[in-house]
Amino acid sequence: MNPVEIILKKRNGEILSAAEISWLVNSYLKGSVTDYQMSAWLMAVYFQGLVSEEIQALTECYINSGKRIDFPAEIVTADKHSTGGVGDKISLMLAPIAAACGLYVPMISGRGLGHTGGTLDKLDSIPGFQTQLSLQRIKELTLQHGLSMVGQSEELVPADKKIYALRDVTATVESPGLITASIMSKKIAEGAKHLVIDLKVGSGAFMPTINRAKELAEALIKTGNAFGQKVTVVLTNMNAPLGTHIGNALEVIEALEYLKGNYLPDTQEITETLTSEMLLSARLAANKEQALNMIRDAVSTGKALHKFEEMIIAQGGEPEVCFDYGKFPAAKYKLPIFAQEDGYVQSIDSRSIGYALVGIKAGRMQVSDEIDYGAGAVLYPKVGTLINKNDEIGTLYTSDREAGEQAIRRILASYKLSPDPVTAEELILGKLTLQDFSA
Ligand code: URA
Repeated sequence: MNPVEIILKKRNGEILSAAEISWLVNSYLKGSVTDYQMSAWLMAVYFQGLVSEEIQALTECYINSGKRIDFPAEIVTADKHSTGGVGDKISLMLAPIAAACGLYVPMISGRGLGHTGGTLDKLDSIPGFQTQLSLQRIKELTLQHGLSMVGQSEELVPADKKIYALRDVTATVESPGLITASIMSKKIAEGAKHLVIDLKVGSGAFMPTINRAKELAEALIKTGNAFGQKVTVVLTNMNAPLGTHIGNALEVIEALEYLKGNYLPDTQEITETLTSEMLLSARLAANKEQALNMIRDAVSTGKALHKFEEMIIAQGGEPEVCFDYGKFPAAKYKLPIFAQEDGYVQSIDSRSIGYALVGIKAGRMQVSDEIDYGAGAVLYPKVGTLINKNDEIGTLYTSDREAGEQAIRRILASYKLSPDPVTAEELILGKLTLQDFSA
């Protein structure tokens, strides 16, 4: 086959066969299709889309690029995946809480994508923590501790690992077909029987509107179903960053605070909603009230924090970080951010904040870029907050002062203020399951 013909076919809006998709992806993995050809194909897919047969073929070919983990039938495996947001550290709280509640969570995550952060980069900020583990080791750790948090590897969805990194830096993330194959291949290969997707909608998300989000939800749910996985999609609002901390080490610190019982309303609502959907799907809780009791108990008894610590030790990291945040990598400068005007926060351009932080190396612009794990921002105002000129509304952590000052200007410009009071938006926008898409 000829890669140029396959790119041309997709560019012209034709439907590709499973054989063509498989040949292209496998040739890219072998190196006979180049980065520039794959980038061109991804951009053609971005504009022309993929029909459901193509999405399934791509997902299957991602899964078959590596191996699958099989857990014994009596083990209740469940997981959650986010389509990507700003300040989205929910996995770091949810996985240990779910494990403390009796679920087995073999979580395969990704790195930062576009303006959004990635769980793997956050975990990499824990000194010594290993996210590249063999399939056998992931299985052992999950069975022993109830969770493991790892990345794609040569053994597990290598096709997603390579193509994900390329999409990150070629503006080809926001495609329902590509997102579906990327997420579902990881979640099917890891052996999760129940999956909850946090499908983010809004300015900081890859899906800006509910209609686009529903299109993606349908592809995710139907693909999961085709591979025997029960998928629940929760639509959540990403018109504002989640919590207060954005940036890799900063987000792990905020997650640790959560596990110590220091909740913020938005991260609490999202964490509890998603974890309870996992418990309900797996039938470990009979109803929402019971699920919430289990979740809050896991935090208040310290069991969830202990699970996180146990996982850090099992994956070679320094567990001292849980109690001594000075052990995390730190940026050189800590710059205060002052409000420039008075007003109620009307909207926050989270995507712009995400890219402002990529500019100080909290994320990547090129595949080979090194991350500054200590870089990021702590931002307090939420939609509806009243701020006064010269209030200190947050802090920027950066190792490059000049880039940091530019990032502050961009962050300030991301807040649109109103002279009149503004009501905060709902965080949970809906829930979708297979039934919503059955004829
Ligand atoms: N998360 C993933 O793993 N892949 C995507 O494409 C988007 C979010």
